[in-house]
Amino acid sequence: MLITIEVNSKKLKAEKGETILNALNRNGINIPTLCRLRDLTPTGACRICVVEVEGEDMLVTACSEPVREWMKIETHSPRVIRARKAIVELLLSNHPDNCLYCDRNLNCELQRIASELNIRERRLSGKKMTLKLDQSSPAITRELSKCILCGRCVRICEEVVKVNTLDFIGKGRAIHIGTAMDKDFNFSSCIHCGQCLNVCPTGALHEKYNIGEVQDYLTKKDTLKVIQFSPLVAFSLAREMGLKYSQNFDKKLNEALYRIGFDRVYCTGFGSDIMINELTEMLENNKTGKLNDTIYTSHCPAWVKYAEQFMPGILEKLSGLKSPQQITGAVIKALVPGIEAVNPENIYSVSATLCTAAKYEARRDAMTRKGISDIETILTVRELAQLLRLYGINMDVLDGRNVDEPMNLASFSALMTEISGGLTESVVKIIAQNNGIELSSSDMRKLRAAGDFRELMVRAGEHEYNFAVIDGLAGLDMLRSKMRSVHYDMVEIMVCQSGCVNGGGVNSDENGESVRDRLKMIYKSEENSAIKMPVDNPAVRNFYEKWLPLDKDISDKKIFRNKYSKKDVLL
Ligand code: SF4
Ligand code: SF4
Ligand code: FES
Repeated sequence: MLITIEVNSKKLKAEKGETILNALNRNGINIPTLCRLRDLTPTGACRICVVEVEGEDMLVTACSEPVREWMKIETHSPRVIRARKAIVELLLSNHPDNCLYCDRNLNCELQRIASELNIRERRLSGKKMTLKLDQSSPAITRELSKCILCGRCVRICEEVVKVNTLDFIGKGRAIHIGTAMDKDFNFSSCIHCGQCLNVCPTGALHEKYNIGEVQDYLTKKDTLKVIQFSPLVAFSLAREMGLKYSQNFDKKLNEALYRIGFDRVYCTGFGSDIMINELTEMLENNKTGKLNDTIYTSHCPAWVKYAEQFMPGILEKLSGLKSPQQITGAVIKALVPGIEAVNPENIYSVSATLCTAAKYEARRDAMTRKGISDIETILTVRELAQLLRLYGINMDVLDGRNVDEPMNLASFSALMTEISGGLTESVVKIIAQNNGIELSSSDMRKLRAAGDFRELMVRAGEHEYNFAVIDGLAGLDMLRSKMRSVHYDMVEIMVCQSGCVNGGGVNSDENGESVRDRLKMIYKSEENSAIKMPVDNPAVRNFYEKWLPLDKDISDKKIFRNKYSKKDVLL
């Protein structure tokens, strides 16, 4: 129901019950916010969004106060601006003055708001915060001296990710954000999803940087430097660098990577196609062998860590397959030494990805063979953009070149595995093809629908396959309740809502537009994709027919598999 409010002496329409902030934003009036997160419970912690409301003695926080009929609001009165300035000046009074050296320089919400409020001098001087730098996690770095206590990270971890790693600790001046018992991140329940990085308004949380290490290796003459990425990485990178994306951008990125010193560029989707094949085979064997047990996917490293910490009872039901980047990494280390006549220990392998948890996954014990890691280093899309800027690469003038054989091709299905439900869709398509079934568009719509729980039943000959998709851990509650009456043959779980398209390693805007853009790019690529399914991928066929049977070291396919164990963490 629409009501009338008066803002800065103008009548506006607002939805009954919505917050003042929503009504203002819809009517084109912006006011600063620091603690607010779209769709999550407002806390009113930062008070930067205050406005004047006629009849109220105190300024009210627009992000939490609902509109009332005929409410009279002043959004930029002298009193309001003075209050906002005072809040920011207080935040800046103990903030470190090292913006120039901060990775959020020019991309910091606090810096932007200070500039918008025309704060040009330090009027308040407080004791600088000296909380220690926590670099204990393989994926996330905490610089709490830059924390402004907005609480966004606490809420996203609790309300969206459902892990509850972070909380406010201490009182008064000693208050800060910490983990259970205020220990370092590596002792905590953090599953490295990186969702908190993307909402932190300052540089207090960011991925663990590996750019320096990559730079060092790029100059080594006696090392073969290889890198893998997927089209989703190329697409997200173009956006990150403010460039227009076209299909040729992937080729330009290959050339850029050669120019900065990589010797070979491979395709992560090659590993995705192998993963889809292996998972489908496992599922069909499970069904026809009458084992009839549920198989849980294991391609999301954040989910795997969650299961090890909170659901150890299902570890033996995980498919055991590594993520696509790790499978590609393992195949690189198995095949490339023979092809390039180089020792495996002289291959430096990098993967560029949207996933921060991949940094953790690459360091797991099982991600090695004969003591050599599948992948040495993971770069997020943000880091890759930084690396290309560092080397002064102008993507516009590059011609482009192809990905290197033999890990050079991927199917459309491979790209779909970067979306929640995409792995299930790919497996369902193979089962349908193997059994001569036509899938309806409504089947596909069920898997591509919104929501944290989706399901699909497919009848194939005498068998009935039930699939469930958990899109974000909030869907686990529904799964538990459904499993009381339904047997699922396969449960796909991804921690980041919508999947890797919303990973912590790439900047995403608050209204979800960038995630929708990435989803659209993936769906749209189906039309132009000459290779629709793993079975159509000549590189993968070649691998199964030529390479795998010949090499007894890898023919048991153990290089595709991970190992799991219960993990005790502080809660
Ligand atoms: S990385 Fe994910 S699990 Fe870890 S603290 Fe941040 S939001 Fe929570
Ligand atoms: S770490 Fe970042 S998101 Fe968390 S409270 Fe501090 S400033 Fe806010
Ligand atoms: S944004 Fe409203 S109180 Fe922080």
